[in-house]
Amino acid sequence: MANLNYYHESGLSAAFYDVVSNAYPFRGDIDFYAALAGPAGASVLELGCGTGRIVIALAERGYGVFGVDLAPAMIQRAAMKCERLPPEVGRRIALMQGDMTRVALDRRFDAVIIPFYGYAHLADPAARARALAVVAEHLRPGGQAAIHLPAPAMLRRPLGDEELSGPYNAAGDQVRIRVVERTFDEATSRFRQVMDYTLIDAAGTVTRQSREDLVYHAAGRDEIAGSADRCGLTLSRTLADFDGSETGREIIHVFTRRD
Ligand SMILES: C[S@@+](CC[C@H](N)C(=O)[O-])C[C@H]1O[C@@H](n2cnc3c(N)ncnc32)[C@H](O)[C@@H]1O
Repeated sequence: MANLNYYHESGLSAAFYDVVSNAYPFRGDIDFYAALAGPAGASVLELGCGTGRIVIALAERGYGVFGVDLAPAMIQRAAMKCERLPPEVGRRIALMQGDMTRVALDRRFDAVIIPFYGYAHLADPAARARALAVVAEHLRPGGQAAIHLPAPAMLRRPLGDEELSGPYNAAGDQVRIRVVERTFDEATSRFRQVMDYTLIDAAGTVTRQSREDLVYHAAGRDEIAGSADRCGLTLSRTLADFDGSETGREIIHVFTRRD
């Protein structure tokens, strides 16, 4: 049987996305995006908002945030989390299921962000150029945008013994997440990671399993800078981590919208 695509409704990766994202080593992305947008009260469009990790954190700090995600299983989780927020926070958030290469909201934001590898899901240069055009169309002149990508060293790292566990529910059930295969094809710049999700009940019995493919496509700086320039965005800086360090396993491209 073929593996499920990551974030598919019948899999487990969407349900346990927060367990995986909490374990990621980079820190400080929310502070970074807040600084990019300006003072509290500024507006942010997040493309590929997932389960609302950043949408909610920015709204709690006073930003108005519009989150868009392609995967129904992800945006539904974001919506469920938003329902539990205090009303004054919840009313700063809007969510929509949609494709970052096609979104047309007919409004502009102080900042547009594509965090945590969302842009790396786009498979070809034409789709990536369309997403940058969407960024430009929704950014006010002088506003800033950021795209966070995995660095090549991250994509090429060999598979180790990679396993993560987390609580599933209050009854003591656990989820176990294991990376079982990882490849990076240099010719096509395609990264594929196969992940096994296993639910285990309090007695230690496996109750559900799902094998899912996470695929990323690496895009070079020249391609991104060129596509950005053609739609009115200037690639102003590229960072290796959110703390501004010169080396790291992340790539953060920052753009400014020309008038
Ligand atoms: C790794 S998650 C990041 C979620 C969130 N931004 C965060 O930082 O926690 C990447 C997200 O991009 C979404 N995505 C992938 N392709 C997309 C597209 N074409 N349009 C909108 N969202 C997309 C996926 O569904 C997924 O939720």
